[in-house]
Amino acid sequence: MIIRKADKSDINSMIKLYDIVAQVHTPFHPIYKEVKNPGKIAIPKNYIGNPNGVAFVAEINENGKKVVVGFAGVMFKYLPDTFETRYTLHLTDLAVFPEYRRKGVATALLQEIIEYARKHKIKYVTLDVALGNHPALMLYKSLGFEQLSMNMIIKASD
Ligand SMILES: CC(C)(COP(=O)(O)OP(=O)(O)OC[C@H]1O[C@@H](n2cnc3c(N)ncnc32)[C@H](O)[C@@H]1OP(=O)(O)O)[C@@H](O)C(=O)NCCC(=O)NCCS
Repeated sequence: MIIRKADKSDINSMIKLYDIVAQVHTPFHPIYKEVKNPGKIAIPKNYIGNPNGVAFVAEINENGKKVVVGFAGVMFKYLPDTFETRYTLHLTDLAVFPEYRRKGVATALLQEIIEYARKHKIKYVTLDVALGNHPALMLYKSLGFEQLSMNMIIKASD
C-alpha cells in the first residue's frame, strides 16, 4: 500500500468515499440531511486547487491494477491572533471502503497527516468526531488523540 497526495485523477474515488462519510452521519447530523450528493460539491472545492486543503489517498495494487481504497482530507485552520500557534491541521474527512477496513489503511493515512504537519512545523492535528461513531473513536484513541471538546448545534432558521 502506498499513501500519496491526491490529484484530479482521484476525484471519483474520493467522491464515493465522501458519500460513505455522509451516509454514516446522516442519521444523526442535521446538516448532512440537507444535501444531496455532497461529495460532488465538497471534494473538488475543498481539495483540488484549494491552497488551504490537502488530501491523501491510500492506493493498493490489486491484480496489477492500482486501486484507491481510502482517503483523508485536511484543512489548514487559522487560529485567532492571540495564540502563538498560528494554525492547526484539521482533519476534515476520512473514509476507507468497507471491504478494506481493519487492515491499517486509516492508520497509515493519519500517520501521513501527522508527518505532513511535522514537516510543515504545525504543532497540532485536530478533528471532530461524532460520539456515536465507535469505529472512528476507537481509531483516533488508538493513535493517541485526546478528547478536548464537544460540538453542539442549534437550528437557527429554515
Ligand atoms: C473509521 C474508519 C476510517 C477506520 O478505517 P480502518 O482502515 O478500518 O482503520 P484501521 O484498520 O487503521 O484501524 C486501526 C484501529 O482503529 C480501531 N478500529 C477501527 N475500526 C474499528 C471498529 N469497527 N471497531 C473497533 N475498533 C476499530 C482498532 O483499534 C484498529 O486496530 P485493530 O484493527 O488492530 O484492532 C472506517 O471504519 C470508515 O471509513 N468508516 C466510515 C467513515 C467514517 O466514519 N469516517 C470517520 C469520520 S470522523
